[in-house]
Amino acid sequence: MKAIVINQYGSADELVEQEVPLPEIKDDQVLIELKATSINPIDWKMREGYLKEKLPYEFPIILGWDAAGIVKKVGKDVTNFQLGEKVFARPKTNPTGTYAEYVAVDQDLICKMPENSSFNDAAAIPLTGQTAWAALVEIGQIKEGDHVLIHGGSGGVGHLAIQIAKHFGAYIAATASEKNEDFVKSLGADEFINYKEQDFETLLNDYDIVLDTQGGETQEKSFSVLKHGGTLVSIATPPDEEKAAEKGIKTGYFFLEPDGERLQKLADLMKSNKLKATIGKTLPFTQEGLREAHRTSEEHGVPGKIVVQMNE
Ligand SMILES: NC(=O)c1ccc[n+]([C@@H]2O[C@H](COP(=O)([O-])OP(=O)(O)OC[C@H]3O[C@@H](n4cnc5c(N)ncnc54)[C@H](OP(=O)(O)O)[C@@H]3O)[C@@H](O)[C@H]2O)c1
Repeated sequence: MKAIVINQYGSADELVEQEVPLPEIKDDQVLIELKATSINPIDWKMREGYLKEKLPYEFPIILGWDAAGIVKKVGKDVTNFQLGEKVFARPKTNPTGTYAEYVAVDQDLICKMPENSSFNDAAAIPLTGQTAWAALVEIGQIKEGDHVLIHGGSGGVGHLAIQIAKHFGAYIAATASEKNEDFVKSLGADEFINYKEQDFETLLNDYDIVLDTQGGETQEKSFSVLKHGGTLVSIATPPDEEKAAEKGIKTGYFFLEPDGERLQKLADLMKSNKLKATIGKTLPFTQEGLREAHRTSEEHGVPGKIVVQMNE
């Protein structure tokens, strides 16, 4: 099958088209013929070699963590999926990544696509949508009336987090750069903060939940906007536990463990038009397409997600 792989760590120029063997499926796996995938910052971080200790895969590495496509083959223990069904998933492991014509995925990570979704729409959801849900719902225990601060409200995670928080009836403040103000407000943010010019720490207080997508100084300052008993959940770096205890703040940090049941909850929101990914750019499944996709993501060039569309 055709795949876009890296044979060594480095710049976007390391992404090359290569023929690789078709993945073999286990008894509880499904072979998905990919119609679309999307880009996440982990793709280029891994390409650069930042994560080589944490994710020590062998070359050639097929990057890519979001799948939308058609069921092509099922293992003998697969009960929930039929050949030809449209499905989406965040597969668990590389190197069987999604910059490829086919990917093998555990059945319990897969969900049927909502009928009102295109492959491109669906491919933009699994990793970032599940991350936003796990942070706000599972860790933050979000409820109606909560005050929620979402850092990076224009990004892949943040723009879905705003919609999820809105669905739960929260009051939402979101940070992003000035050019994305209208976009962030259109998603449901009640308050917009331009992180390049305004200091969110002096503008907000008594918040119930902060979703930290940045770490560093942003995380440091986030402590002071939370109320006693509030939750600081980070997807960037683990928060300082001592400081949290001093201030009576709960913390959370995780590296997403995908789950098909969680994805089903997102599919339900998609079905009822409460959750929709914004696709800032769509590129073709070619060597040049993937290189441009990575460069765009590295530069935070577009709001929302970058989708890579396979040939029909
Ligand atoms: N732990 C996990 O499981 C997990 C899962 C998913 C993602 N992540 C990580 O979470 C981060 C965000 O992911 P993503 O997919 O949303 O990335 P993304 O699509 O590239 O978005 C990045 C966002 O960060 C914003 N930003 C940049 N500097 C900022 C600052 N100083 N303060 C506030 N916002 C700032 C950008 O805003 P503007 O473009 O408006 O400037 C943009 O909205 C990445 O580092 C990613 O690796 C972790």
